[in-house]
Amino acid sequence: MSTHGKKTVGRRLRAVATVATATALVAVPLTLASTAATAAEPHVDNPYAGAKQYVNPTWAATVESAATRAGDATLAAQMRTVARQPTAVWMDRISAIAGNADGNGLKFHLDEALKQKTGSTPLVFNLVIYNLPGRDCFALASNGELPATDAGLARYKTEYIDPIVDLLSDPKYQDLRISATIEPDSLPNLITNMSEATCQQSAPYYREGVKYALDELKTMDNVYTYIDAAHSGWLGWDTNAGPAAKLFADVAKTTKKGFASIDGFVTNTANSTPLAEPFLTDPNKQVGSGQVRSATFYEWNADFGEHAWTAHLHRLLVAEGFPASTGMLIDTSRNGWGGPNRPTAASTSTDLNTYVNESRIDKRVHRGAWCNPLGAGIGELPKATPASAPAAAHLDAYVWIKPPGESDGASKEIPNDQGKSFDRMCDPTFVSPKLANQLTGATPDAPLAGQWFEAQFRTLVRNAFPVIPANGTTPTPTPTATPTATPTVTPTVTPTATPTVTPTATATPTPTPTSGPAACSVRYSANGWSTGFTASVRLTNTGSSALSSWNLRFTLPAGQSVQQGWSAQWTQSGQTVTAANAAWNGTLAPGASVEIGFNGSQTNGTSSPPPASGFTLNGSPCAS
Ligand code: GLC
Repeated sequence: MSTHGKKTVGRRLRAVATVATATALVAVPLTLASTAATAAEPHVDNPYAGAKQYVNPTWAATVESAATRAGDATLAAQMRTVARQPTAVWMDRISAIAGNADGNGLKFHLDEALKQKTGSTPLVFNLVIYNLPGRDCFALASNGELPATDAGLARYKTEYIDPIVDLLSDPKYQDLRISATIEPDSLPNLITNMSEATCQQSAPYYREGVKYALDELKTMDNVYTYIDAAHSGWLGWDTNAGPAAKLFADVAKTTKKGFASIDGFVTNTANSTPLAEPFLTDPNKQVGSGQVRSATFYEWNADFGEHAWTAHLHRLLVAEGFPASTGMLIDTSRNGWGGPNRPTAASTSTDLNTYVNESRIDKRVHRGAWCNPLGAGIGELPKATPASAPAAAHLDAYVWIKPPGESDGASKEIPNDQGKSFDRMCDPTFVSPKLANQLTGATPDAPLAGQWFEAQFRTLVRNAFPVIPANGTTPTPTPTATPTATPTVTPTVTPTATPTVTPTATATPTPTPTSGPAACSVRYSANGWSTGFTASVRLTNTGSSALSSWNLRFTLPAGQSVQQGWSAQWTQSGQTVTAANAAWNGTLAPGASVEIGFNGSQTNGTSSPPPASGFTLNGSPCAS
């Protein structure tokens, strides 16, 4: 099957050359050659087939620790299943190679990977190469440490790629299959975002940096390279897909090994685009005023999910000269879209946009919403050559490149020394022009990109689809049938056109109050615009005993309704809104406060919408 090089000679040209000039020219290369010839396993077509993948013990420990705080036995058990899944190790700056405050270095992980390798079962180590000069040129949240300059490129080569390759080429790692995801978002930005000065400046460094990474990584037969290919909602249009395939081919042709320097492509890295839309299977279907693909949400892009996109891209790549064996990976770490808001059938509406909005499982306000999307869940567990995927998708595997629970970006300015900036796409109160002037739908209170974000992690596990088995043994039934798994936030999708007024009142898992009537105070504030508002509610237990659960109820003025809430379980009936504690914030000591909030819609809106009233906590009135 493989069209890739199968030779198992010299591990690292640079290493061999150094040794050879410094010492005897004859003896050393012979030793190296014989080690390689006897031990290294050959390069295969699909490294994931028949292999196990590396489970990052540091990330797993963080997940285990979240499980101890789950406050719900099923959720805790599901988190423990998640902790056993393989995720990628990101080299997101130079200091990540040696290890830094955010994590252990590459050598630690490679040594741990050797320990995880058992018998003759191959082990895949998922590694992310992510430090190009001028990184993340169209956004701010993951801007990097290296400037888009010649000096930045020189440092990328000598201080980043070379040390990584030196470590990987240690012969003791030659039997690990290293699968490298190469530079997420970089080449795709050169297709769609060249109107941006920063992307224009980055462009030559992205091309040269990717070429260099490929040339150096492909000096090792046990390394597999997968180039990031965005996702269907970014490059799916033919007018983007064609130029993307061409750019990938152009870059491949500049490398020493040409097309053989790229084993495949990885899509949906750190994104939440679903594999497919189960109730929108025909993009050309006519509904009301037009074809499904012409609805506002799809903007004529016929690739509704990643299966369609990898199939589409594969076809174009082969036409550009890539071998048919080119394999595809899809990051399914956060594209599950389960939970109570997942539709269970196609809409019966005859209005095109209503039909699409009610039928789609992807509940983002817009397909460009990339930052900590509220309501997303974990997707398929990592697996090689998934049988359920269409053959045309050419999948090597579903993988988890983005470790679930790590933030995409901070929802406010947070000073740091990594070059990361505040991108308002991560701010849930921001109405973004990049999202057709809608609220971003980002999860509030997010930490810096890459940092652990437990509130988001909990939602990801609860909204997983397929539902995560508890302890890997007992798969629970469909997500709608598990009221304990109600997400903390109930993001009634804001349909792009007319927001429906009633929020999805999902099964209300009313926690059994173990404490009686409460003395409380509430501070309520709201900022609005013509059609909506954001409200924050600070609730304080002014009583003398601790609460172990709470239920806040209040009345919204006429014309207002809750669209999506956070840090509590939100339901609305008529104008009465109930916010029940989330599993992790039910305990409220005397004097303690909790902040919750929601985005609402309003008719005849103003910047200071009239406040809610009639607050009660566990049935007793609150001061407000
Ligand atoms: C983001 C961050 C990076 C992190 C990665 C994985 O892109 O910028 O620092 O390692 O996500 O969470």
